[in-house]
Amino acid sequence: MDVEALLSWFYENHRDLPWRTSRTPYGTWISEAMLQQTRVATVLDYYPRFLNRFPDPKALAQAAEDEVFKLWEGLGYYSRARNLMRGAKYICEHFDGALPSSPDLLLEIPGIGPYMAGAIASQAFNHPVPAVDGNCIRIYSRLHALPLIPSEKSTYNEIHARVLKDIPSDNPGDFNEALMDFGSLVCTPKSPRCNTCPFAMECSANLLGKQEDFPLKKPKKDVPVEEHTILKVFVGKKILVRKRPDSGLLAGLYELIDIPGHLENHEVKTWVQENLLNGAKPESEEPDIRVLGTSKHVFSHLRWNMIGYEVLLNADTAVTKNASRIGELVTMKKYDTLAFASAIRAYR
Ligand code: ADE
Repeated sequence: MDVEALLSWFYENHRDLPWRTSRTPYGTWISEAMLQQTRVATVLDYYPRFLNRFPDPKALAQAAEDEVFKLWEGLGYYSRARNLMRGAKYICEHFDGALPSSPDLLLEIPGIGPYMAGAIASQAFNHPVPAVDGNCIRIYSRLHALPLIPSEKSTYNEIHARVLKDIPSDNPGDFNEALMDFGSLVCTPKSPRCNTCPFAMECSANLLGKQEDFPLKKPKKDVPVEEHTILKVFVGKKILVRKRPDSGLLAGLYELIDIPGHLENHEVKTWVQENLLNGAKPESEEPDIRVLGTSKHVFSHLRWNMIGYEVLLNADTAVTKNASRIGELVTMKKYDTLAFASAIRAYR
């Protein structure tokens, strides 16, 4: 890799991003956590809001989980938010409330893995350590036509070793971020902009005319599909919600009523009669049920196909009592403050 050429490209073309303009170790950590599964454009809104509300590890360590989740709502992968809270507590207990500079100590913090330790140590503390991500793997494997599969450990080791050889000791953070920007703006996964690339004449994949064949693609596995019926149940002016368990998929987030399988209208009616009306309602007070339509959500390992219904019930005492056995009846004002699983966004 021609390090000087990459850095020159970066100084001319880098993106102005808020965590770069006022660089702090804490801000770097938060931005890297947000950027791990989320696009830069989305993070631009969330980052300043989060930093404003939780400006340092101490504030985050003392935060209520529900408030952190609410600020995280829409970013997805909530385990990142939970890890940040755990990490903040660890930093307060073991490092006196400030992130340590050494990559080894950073790795002790819950939720910080080798990529993030490298990103923080290089960008915030000028340690010459790699931050190997998908951009980095793509650029190096194209440049040298390396037949590597990104998710494999051996690929990570190979690229880590190459970056370690190249990384400059005076501006290692710029080098790592140059790889990120170059991978996002020029050496993109699809249709890379080789006509503007300063490395076009030394890039083996380009010279072979096989840019998009590198890195290699992992054979696709079919993801399992689950069917869900989502009920948006109103009891008078309140709405029925549930908090998901503290572990497992979408842990700790709120959801609407979720029944396994796809229920038809008459089956929803039976479910409502049995669970909310105790089968005791007179015919004249039939539940008011309206179909809201279908929606799908793709997790990394699973897909949900959903059908949703709205159910309107009168707020009599028996119904209210039954509803509180199933979940929590909340006002619309409270509803708006809760962090919901984005999988059911279509029904919110
Ligand atoms: N993706 C992850 N970290 C990043 C950073 N520091 N700049 C731009 N994109 C990123």
